[in-house]
Amino acid sequence: MVIEFQKALEVLQNGEVLGIPTETVYGLAARIDSEDALKKIFSTKQRPFFDPLIVHLSSEMNPRSWTSAWPEIYQALIEKFWPGPLTLIAPKNERISDLITSGLPDVGLRSPDHALTQKLISALGIPVAAPSANMFGKTSPTRADHVVSEFGGTVPVLDGGPCPVGVESTVISFDPTQKVLTVLRPGFVSKADLISIAEKFNVRVESGTSQAAPGQLKAHYQPKAPVVLQFTDVGELTAKDKKNLEEKLGKGPLDWKVLKVDVSPALAARELYSQLRVLSEGGANPGIWIPVHPKLKNEDAWQMVVDRLQRAASLILY
Ligand code: TXA
Ligand code: MG
Repeated sequence: MVIEFQKALEVLQNGEVLGIPTETVYGLAARIDSEDALKKIFSTKQRPFFDPLIVHLSSEMNPRSWTSAWPEIYQALIEKFWPGPLTLIAPKNERISDLITSGLPDVGLRSPDHALTQKLISALGIPVAAPSANMFGKTSPTRADHVVSEFGGTVPVLDGGPCPVGVESTVISFDPTQKVLTVLRPGFVSKADLISIAEKFNVRVESGTSQAAPGQLKAHYQPKAPVVLQFTDVGELTAKDKKNLEEKLGKGPLDWKVLKVDVSPALAARELYSQLRVLSEGGANPGIWIPVHPKLKNEDAWQMVVDRLQRAASLILY
């Protein structure tokens, strides 16, 4: 159920999980200084322990308090992009539980750009760990009511309105010996944005392979209805096309809905998850067809959308 700020703060203080708004997607938050609270994140989401959690700080908190090394380039990046949709992976210190990092030596940190959540973490005085507030492998929530329905009303949620970015934060790591920044998960902070800072440090920016980050499973973000992603400049399906797709999926007949995304990457990202939810819940046997112009496939600004579509799709056609 949706609760007020003061109640929400008490939920976190008491070591319970809370749905929180961020600029990217809603998170399922718990205070990081309680192992019991952290375990509730995994049990609520049915999330495997091998998938590490992102730690969320408020603006006055210093990432150096939870890390054993904080590269100069990270400092420059957070001065530019925090609070905002950028998660930085850095060597953790002893204050970070192995539950958060899945036993890895590094932790992911970010400061979300949402006034209510900033105020909440600040009042708590302790960072919160927060994965996206969906069942493991499912579509991330971008509105408070998505979180309520995802967990059948059992999880309290602080309503901060619809998420303006709509897809999860950009995740990066840094290799100080090679002087390389790697994008482990594309997001609203693009490669070009990162290069604008990295070039001042003589650091290269590379795209990671999709499996480089733990938890970046290929099949992820999957809505209830089958999704077909097709790189094409055609915007409609003929009756023959539909039959063809049903044969390929081994399902049917399906009630085909067309999801057009190629207006602008920012708009596409903002609406993507909520549209996938709406379309997969409408009708008796829906199938979702998403045509994307082939020229967008490798465009920097579109990577956050293309990546999520590829993971949501049960079939990709070129
Ligand atoms: O925008 C976001 O980042 C949202 C909101 C709620 O802040 N959170 C989010 O969390 O997307 P989650 O749990 O759905 O995704 C976390 C992913 C992991 O699956 C993994 O790919 C990467 O971030 N990650 C976290 N910690 C890591 C670490 N220590 N090393 C490598 N990758 C890590
Ligand atoms: Mg997630």
